[in-house]
Amino acid sequence: MNPNQQKAEQLRLLKGKRPLSALTAYDYPTARLLDETGIDLLLVGDSLGMVVLGYPDTTHVTLDHMIHHTAAVARGTKNSLVLGDLPINTYPDPDTTLTNSQKLIDAGAHAVKLEGGLNQADKVQHLTSNGIPVIGHLGMLPQRVKEEGGYKKKGRTEEEAKQILKGALALQEAGASAIVLESVIPKAARYLTDSLNIPTIGIGCGKGNCDGEIAVITDVIGSYPWFVPPFAIPRADVATQITKAVQGYLDDLTG
Ligand code: KIV
Repeated sequence: MNPNQQKAEQLRLLKGKRPLSALTAYDYPTARLLDETGIDLLLVGDSLGMVVLGYPDTTHVTLDHMIHHTAAVARGTKNSLVLGDLPINTYPDPDTTLTNSQKLIDAGAHAVKLEGGLNQADKVQHLTSNGIPVIGHLGMLPQRVKEEGGYKKKGRTEEEAKQILKGALALQEAGASAIVLESVIPKAARYLTDSLNIPTIGIGCGKGNCDGEIAVITDVIGSYPWFVPPFAIPRADVATQITKAVQGYLDDLTG
């Protein structure tokens, strides 16, 4: 096993032992602060497109954006697993997926994440057999927001939950180390978690239905007040702190 595979394996082995902790990070100082808290995983998510780059959704994010931010996060991280997101249109076939994933690994990621199930299993297999650890992403898939006409809850029917499970089992079989479940209804998230040998990492799936939780850092610290998902729990109000600090600075200047 190479060092990245060893790191991903440590994460996989957390299933059934303790909850796995994960947050997004997009820059050096945030990564450094989060890494020092002992968080298990830092995702350089393509949510970067909205909460850092000011795009309406993740479909505008490019591989160059991801390489740039993955490198910054990697420079700030000593212990956490750094997970680089493959953006839309960068994993059309196994060989292109391997070439593009290697660029994220070269930028400092330990593993890569891609969206989708059955249709991605051959790419996941190609990556894992070439020594690149992969984390899957099922449920609501933000890169498909345009086709789907919005962000919708998944796993509402038994049929839909079974379909997600088929995809999850294919990813597991292909060697994925874990699977992010996004906006899957709590009962279905529990069913998926109980049916898999690899950890599920939930966002918007209700508390305690997955083996771990992931959150977008700007939701946790309250630094992106223009859109806060309904399931997010802000634990600070950084936006107000910034406004107050700058107001103090301006008051002193004009004084
Ligand atoms: O890009 C991202 O931040 C994500 C999380 C929502 C899991 O994929």
